Amino acid sequence: MSDLTILALSGSLRKESLNTRLLTSVARLAPPELAFDLFTDLAAIPPFNEDDEHPAPAAVADLRRRIRAADGVLVATPEYNGAMPGVLKNALDWLSRPVEEGPVLERKPVAIIGASKGPLGTIRAQLNLRVVLHKMDVTVVGQPEFVLPHAHEALAEGELPAGSPSHSILTAVVEGLVDLIEHRRAVASLAR
Ligand SMILES: Cc1cc2nc3c(=O)[nH]c(=O)nc-3n(C[C@H](O)[C@H](O)[C@H](O)COP(=O)(O)O)c2cc1C
Repeated sequence: MSDLTILALSGSLRKESLNTRLLTSVARLAPPELAFDLFTDLAAIPPFNEDDEHPAPAAVADLRRRIRAADGVLVATPEYNGAMPGVLKNALDWLSRPVEEGPVLERKPVAIIGASKGPLGTIRAQLNLRVVLHKMDVTVVGQPEFVLPHAHEALAEGELPAGSPSHSILTAVVEGLVDLIEHRRAVASLAR
């Protein structure tokens, strides 16, 4: 595996967020060839308004720059009322534009994970996120899917226990993201 950078995007604003903790845990457990750029500041992204697109607000420009600089993106979404949080959808609306410049997430390799306190572990929020990313023409890792139910218990020690079934699936998701990045690179080099 060559050196890769992954933008790790937390869909939560909370200081003690389980989803941010999950991303931190992934970064700690990943092989050294993977560098993680953790983004936890969706609070800085203003509500999307077409009137404010030009020039883009500084926080939006910063997020776009960091996504462009990354080889892939790992999104950890909380679940609010059966869907992704509004702040995450708001950020995606900004990232879906400007259409004429080629949105930064278009065909970008992305993987989705999520942790919730409930028994379904963000499965509905992830489905909701997948639908939106599909519309945005983002390339998303299909399998495996990683959900972490009762995450306040599973992450009580701060990290997923190494060797646990959850940890193995999480590792497989990251491997799926790396495969997708490397596949896209191989296709791009053939096209040159
Ligand atoms: C407004 C709101 C709605 C929620 N709805 C759900 C839900 O639909 N399903 C679920 O499993 N948890 C739900 N929860 C609980 C979240 O799983 C829990 O707050 C979780 O810790 C949020 O993620 P975070 O720790 O990364 O901030 C909800 C929490 C809030 C504040």
